[in-house]
Amino acid sequence: MRIIGRIADGATEIKARLILLKGMENSVVAEDLVLIKNGGEDKPVNQILGVLREGLGKNEFLSYTSYRPEVAYLRHGGEPSGVREVYSFAIETIGVITDEGIEPNRTIIQPRSPVYLLEDKDNPLEWVARGHEVIWSDAYVEGHPSWKVPFDKTFLPYHVGVYGSTGCGKSWFTRYILIPLYRRAGYKVLVLDWSGTDYAPLLEDDKVIRLSEVALDEESILSYFQDKTFGFGRNDVIRDCFDEFLEGWTAKVKEAYTDSENPAEHLFHKLKSHVESAISSIERKDSRAAAQRAYRRIFRRLKPSDLYPVMGVITIEELFEELKRKGILAIDMGGALTEAKLGFFLALSKHLYSLMETGMNLGVALIIDEAPQYAPWDARGIQAETCEMIKNLAALGRKRMLNLTLIAQGIKGEIGVNAAVRRNLNTHFFGRIHPLDASGEGGASEWLSPYGISASHLLQLKPGRFYFAGAMNPSPVPLLITYSPPGR
Ligand SMILES: Nc1ncnc2c1ncn2[C@@H]1O[C@H](COP(=O)(O)OP(=O)(O)O)[C@@H](O)[C@H]1O
Ligand SMILES: [Mg+2]
Repeated sequence: MRIIGRIADGATEIKARLILLKGMENSVVAEDLVLIKNGGEDKPVNQILGVLREGLGKNEFLSYTSYRPEVAYLRHGGEPSGVREVYSFAIETIGVITDEGIEPNRTIIQPRSPVYLLEDKDNPLEWVARGHEVIWSDAYVEGHPSWKVPFDKTFLPYHVGVYGSTGCGKSWFTRYILIPLYRRAGYKVLVLDWSGTDYAPLLEDDKVIRLSEVALDEESILSYFQDKTFGFGRNDVIRDCFDEFLEGWTAKVKEAYTDSENPAEHLFHKLKSHVESAISSIERKDSRAAAQRAYRRIFRRLKPSDLYPVMGVITIEELFEELKRKGILAIDMGGALTEAKLGFFLALSKHLYSLMETGMNLGVALIIDEAPQYAPWDARGIQAETCEMIKNLAALGRKRMLNLTLIAQGIKGEIGVNAAVRRNLNTHFFGRIHPLDASGEGGASEWLSPYGISASHLLQLKPGRFYFAGAMNPSPVPLLITYSPPGR
């Protein structure tokens, strides 16, 4: 801990400015943590922890809007005087340090009070964590790898949002920080990997289940075939045939796996002959001819291999048992149709919801990457159902140890998560934001500017840097955190 300056004129209980001692502007930087000995070094009234933001360099000789001798001198190549130069930072107060932890400050911060820079061995996060039931993560405060970030365990089921533009490190942060943290808190982790590229490759093979291995509900399978057959050749008879055939589908698939070397081929021929025989029993000649034309169109395109994506046999119940055994499981949804992915999500969330309704504490964290796919701002059709389901899971999950972690490119609007869902998220990680989120109501800057963090700052964050804000952060002021990915 070393002295770096003193409190300037105009401090309140919450806000103060720090005037730096000469030369300190070269080494003291924004986001450094400081300690104010309020009232003087010897007998301070209290000791206040704060974070530096909004740096400002002033030299009144060098006003760029008026002409002064120093400005003239500068314009002719001279080096102007620095005697009237002042460097200052805003201090966002985190709170008063007490034996019980950090308390809000209610005394006026006295001008002239000395301010100290906290160094690696001081570890102020120990003070922040005091009085909370915390779990220590592998993330650290930017610039201080030894200051690991504590998370308040109580608020884990109060849900989490991770936001930032593509490539800012959301998936990695979730993989390397949040998932290990949830595991340490005793939660099982189920990851829904929308494209199959973000998490599945980072996990061992036996912890990844492909969506095509999961038994989908008949509704989703019907819409899969609808997509593959151009709306069943626009023929209602054929649509009904497929619908009939799908009854007891999973049993038929299981049978095909045991009876045949080539189960897809086997099933394909059963399906084909089912449709064929239904058509031949049509009595009216013209209807029969129309159905036959549609049949030929469909089966010219549909191949046995097209059946594989819907030939999964693992039920949601079995999947949940597998999760309990392994502790972590990723569902690789790459290659599946959006309807199938959302259909699976509905089936999964209905199962989780019914378990919670019976009074079971789940102890599960559900990681939903590409969250706007499940809960877009203008949810319609099946997305309206998944969106509603997420809201319900969030509400009941708070009491039943279910954590939802929603990952999105943005916070509001088209790139963000549905507003009704967003209101249920109480902890936030803001990475480098999309310019669409830089301004306006509900965007990142609205969340962070009260703490002296400006939108222009957020637009420039390096990959892997996140502002940590909200319920799980024992510090009432958001902190800039980062992490080192393993092997780097
Ligand atoms: N902490 C970090 N330090 C350095 N590079 C990182 C860090 N986190 C992520 N990255 C880089 O950012 C890239 C994108 O990360 P990813 O998590 O896939 O982003 P997103 O999910 O936000 O699109 C990674 O491939 C990696 O190169
Ligand atoms: Mg990603």
